[in-house]
Amino acid sequence: MPRLAHEHSGSPTRAANIARNLGGGHARRRSRWRPVREALWELLDRHVPAGATVAIVGAGNGDDVPLRRLCRRVARLDLIDLDPGALRRARRRCRFAGARVRTLVEDVSDGVADAIVHAALDGTHTRARPSAAPVGAPPYDVVVSDLLATQLLFPALSDARLPGDAIDRTLLRDGRPLTDAVVARMHAAAPNGLVIHIHDLLGWWEGHEQPFALERMLALAQSDPTAALALARDGAAPYGCDPREASTRLDATIIDTAFWHWPFAPGTDYLVCASVAASAGST
Ligand SMILES: C[S@@+](CC[C@H](N)C(=O)[O-])C[C@H]1O[C@@H](n2cnc3c(N)ncnc32)[C@H](O)[C@@H]1O
Repeated sequence: MPRLAHEHSGSPTRAANIARNLGGGHARRRSRWRPVREALWELLDRHVPAGATVAIVGAGNGDDVPLRRLCRRVARLDLIDLDPGALRRARRRCRFAGARVRTLVEDVSDGVADAIVHAALDGTHTRARPSAAPVGAPPYDVVVSDLLATQLLFPALSDARLPGDAIDRTLLRDGRPLTDAVVARMHAAAPNGLVIHIHDLLGWWEGHEQPFALERMLALAQSDPTAALALARDGAAPYGCDPREASTRLDATIIDTAFWHWPFAPGTDYLVCASVAASAGST
């Protein structure tokens, strides 16, 4: 019978994400992810006005975020995550960079991700949904959701050693409503602004191949992002966690899309799809 290690039993999603935020070696990650910070800055530079109030949800260690450049652009930056240690590390990078930076320790699933994991372990399921309250300390001009959607459920389900088919069943049943609710909370925090979803759309690693190469997707994305998104649908995508589709279901308008390569670790690569969604109230 799969079960959680004792130290994970209170909040399995927090424990699983803290473990991942501590792994990987920070110095190596920071240098490997430098091109990712460049790509994200190119996008933020287009959409974050000077003096803006911005939140980054899933800020973690801030290794993939151009924090210092963002701090020089904005008036206030809220770093939001359920991992307090990672937030402390991210905040240290913002020292002397200009903006007023705050760290907010918050589970943006409102405890529901944990409830889903506990129910999956019990062989049941829960109908609990997060509150509709906005995330963070709104209002924001821009909310950046940073590689968060895939991490709401999967890490904790995986660490609980549930069989693969039970994990898939849980993600297919509970992932989409949870993602929709979390994305709705982000739009509620920027009712007249933007939510920028940074999403690990497809991954490549040994034993997890895709029907096309990452290089082909990147080349297609340069010339025709719509065709790249269409082709991505033929790939093996994570279940129940597409934040772009969640924003669209909320009547947000996608005003910009960008793609880049996330060299996560040696032998593990992701195609990132960044979607800039204007909240329904802003158009
Ligand atoms: C893949 S990481 C993003 C990378 C991160 N920006 C960095 O550079 O370290 C996803 C982040 O989402 C956070 N996260 C996962 N579930 C969350 C939740 N329910 N509420 C808040 N943050 C969450 C994790 O703790 C993690 O820091």
